[in-house]
Amino acid sequence: MSDFWSIYIILFVVINIAGNAWILFALRKNPEESVEEGEELAHEFDGIRELNNPLPRWWLWVFAGSILYAIGYLILYPGLGKYPGVLGWTSIGQFEEEMAQAEARYGPLLKEYAAASIPDLLDDKRAVAMGGRLFANHCAACHGSDARGGKGYPNLTDGAWLYGGEPATIEQTILYGRNGMMPPMGAAIGGEEVVTKVAEYVLSLSGREHDAELAKLGEPTFKTICAACHGPEGKGNPMIGSANLTDNTWLHGGSVETIRETIRHGRMSKMPAHIDLLGKEKVHLLALYVYSLSQPESSESMESR
Ligand code: HEC
Ligand code: HEC
Repeated sequence: MSDFWSIYIILFVVINIAGNAWILFALRKNPEESVEEGEELAHEFDGIRELNNPLPRWWLWVFAGSILYAIGYLILYPGLGKYPGVLGWTSIGQFEEEMAQAEARYGPLLKEYAAASIPDLLDDKRAVAMGGRLFANHCAACHGSDARGGKGYPNLTDGAWLYGGEPATIEQTILYGRNGMMPPMGAAIGGEEVVTKVAEYVLSLSGREHDAELAKLGEPTFKTICAACHGPEGKGNPMIGSANLTDNTWLHGGSVETIRETIRHGRMSKMPAHIDLLGKEKVHLLALYVYSLSQPESSESMESR
């Protein structure tokens, strides 16, 4: 903050407080000397009459108290421009102190967990629960508090994976993020008519209701163009996160309209990297938690969340 703004703010705050004190001082007595206390003043508006009463005492004291509080606060804490306050408190300082306390408390435990493999930790309820709390704080906004996702955000509990459900793969996903990129294909495959046919073929892959004749017409396009990413059978490729189109589990939606939209305009999905934000040790617990969600034997840990 420059000196100019510092002084500007100090003046502004001081004038404000002084102004309030002056109003308080000026209104402490009866407003009108010539009229007896409790008597009516000579004006009326819309049936509302004003009596010549001083402000209630308790109210004056609350007002005076809050002015004193403000002055005390501004001496102790930062608030007057660049003046740091006699306590030297800063929000960054408080944050760092809290972080240091958390580190002292959880650091050794996190280290211990980081050294253990995820399958070995599955039965450690405390480790899974710590992962669950991290998930609620850092992942639930996108994947939902129950991790079941939503349109465009994958369900992490269903055992169907874009990139693979091995512990190491999940950890990789959380650490470094993922970019799911399906290019717009509408024009590339020859326009709306072909989109309709290929969409019917996609529906047929997962056994959804479809027009068999149109699907048959869409098959060659799928096999020559879409198969490059989704595989000849449409089972997807975990290296690039191209969705498995045969499992009837949908990231964006399995209705014919949504599938056509996906083909026409493509899809871009970004899973952000978390290595800088959380560090490897916490991500290890997150991967444990995510892994636990689709393990049948740990259904317990899901219920106790
Ligand atoms: C800003 C939203 C967002 C946040 C926050 C987020 N994710 Fe994701 N995540 C996504 C999206 C979108 C995808 C799908 C990426 C794709 O389709 O390529 C994804 C994919 C994943 C996958 C891969 C799923 C699969 O099928 O292979 C895992 C695992 C995952 N996220 C875990 C997490 C965890 C754990 C956290 C918290 C640390 C987290 N995500 C935070 C949006 C988010
Ligand atoms: C360059 C690789 C690539 C090509 C070519 C490609 N796709 Fe995709 N497709 C992807 C990826 C990657 C995703 C996942 C997008 C995401 O993460 O949001 C995807 C997603 C989809 C989805 C959404 C699935 C869901 O679960 O909601 C459909 C449907 C689909 N593709 C159909 C097709 C069809 C049909 C074609 C051919 C016309 C095609 N794709 C061509 C890479 C490709």
